[in-house]
Amino acid sequence: MIDFSHITKSYPNGDVVLNDVNFSVSPGEFVVITGKSGAGKTTLGRLLIRDLLPIKGKIVIDGEDLNQIKPKNIPLIRRKVGFVFQDYKIIPDKTIGENITIALEIGGYNRKKIQEKITELLKIVGIPGKEHLFPGQLSGGEVQRAAIARAIACEPAILFADEPTGNLDKDTSVEIFNLLKKINDGGTTVILATHDVTLIGLNPDRNIHLEKGKIVSDVDGKPSKSEPSSDSSSLREGTPTWPAGPRRGKSHSTKRKININK
Ligand SMILES: Nc1ncnc2c1ncn2[C@@H]1O[C@H](COP(=O)(O)OP(=O)(O)OP(=O)(O)O)[C@@H](O)[C@H]1O
Ligand SMILES: [Mg+2]
Repeated sequence: MIDFSHITKSYPNGDVVLNDVNFSVSPGEFVVITGKSGAGKTTLGRLLIRDLLPIKGKIVIDGEDLNQIKPKNIPLIRRKVGFVFQDYKIIPDKTIGENITIALEIGGYNRKKIQEKITELLKIVGIPGKEHLFPGQLSGGEVQRAAIARAIACEPAILFADEPTGNLDKDTSVEIFNLLKKINDGGTTVILATHDVTLIGLNPDRNIHLEKGKIVSDVDGKPSKSEPSSDSSSLREGTPTWPAGPRRGKSHSTKRKININK
């Protein structure tokens, strides 16, 4: 579904920030990309939505080579890949409902469906009935949930969540992680970028670790432990990392899609 092949990226007048990055993601996977600040996580996400082009290498999504894609088709890629931005990009002087409406209008939903979808999306992300509030009237975790609702509004096949727990306490981070897991259980491929390595203790399918723009490990392993809970004890320092082995390119079965029909 997603294939990064020999991706190298530098910004104008800057150093190389991604250096020969290679990985593939299968439909339905939940991949956590970890790495310290500056490792290249956001750059990787921006490449995925064709916000940036690599200086070397090729990215293919569902057979579409992003180097070759025509500008008029870039919105199709962005519809396929929902993006939760590191800085939210929620418009402060619009209500949560209005923020989500913008995404739904771009996705071609009519007025009646938009209202139904907003109600349903806010339920899915755990902030039902908050559509009339402004972002400033929500907690940080709730704004993050709203940002996730907006990102999944048009039912993208892939969700890239860039540091969605960056400013949150541990309990709320676990809740957001579990929300992403629920979305993944509904069939969406989820890529979570984070500097918080403790999140991998919560059993994603797979962890790709970046250091200074290079993949230094790519391991997978389904949990043999209990399901993650909202109990922050599972995030304490020293949490055993989940059973990990070198990645062997397992394929994942297609999962049920969340029923948020147009
Ligand atoms: N627009 C830009 N112009 C020049 N350099 C940039 C730009 N964006 C990012 N960089 C540089 O690229 C490197 C990787 O940045 P990136 O934002 O991808 O890292 P990150 O892993 O997301 O970090 P963080 O955890 O702090 O969000 C950094 O050294 C950064 O300074
Ligand atoms: Mg970043």
